[in-house]
Amino acid sequence: MPKISNLFFKTAVLFLIVGIGMGLQMSISENHNVIGAHAHVNLLGWVSSAIFGVYYALNPAKAERRLALVHYAVYTTGVVFMSMALYLLLQGNTAVTPVVAVSSLIVVAGVLIFAWTVFAPENLALRRSARAV
Ligand code: HEM
Repeated sequence: MPKISNLFFKTAVLFLIVGIGMGLQMSISENHNVIGAHAHVNLLGWVSSAIFGVYYALNPAKAERRLALVHYAVYTTGVVFMSMALYLLLQGNTAVTPVVAVSSLIVVAGVLIFAWTVFAPENLALRRSARAV
């Protein structure tokens, strides 16, 4: 498996543990106030990161591009900050609203990098990885 897929899967599992933790917290406390943070950690963090990992495993040439690492760094940073800030916001800390806004835009940037990667021709990725050898 390409390194980048491994990285995405390890990160995805950490998000799943945090997301499930929030779900358990809501269930046990019978207070569902952080439902938005729980859903986003699970879907942006666990599900989407795992799908990115699968994509790069199926496209090893694209996995070798430096852009894959940029995608990982930008997207993961965005989701980490967005999850933490959303969690605090839903607990009533309105001061973190700008952090939610900025981190959401970082997540969007990560998604756009992924879209660029998906639409880039396969042979371009192959040429670049051949040059790197
Ligand atoms: C042990 C694991 C989990 C527990 C205990 C848990 C618990 C909860 C609870 C208590 C709610 C609030 C329900 C409500 O107020 O209507 C919720 C909502 C939600 N959960 Fe989880 N959850 C778990 C795993 C997951 C996973 C793995 C995902 C996604 C991959 C997920 C996605 C969602 C979504 C999208 C909502 C919002 C549903 C809605 O608004 O109707 N959950 N969860």
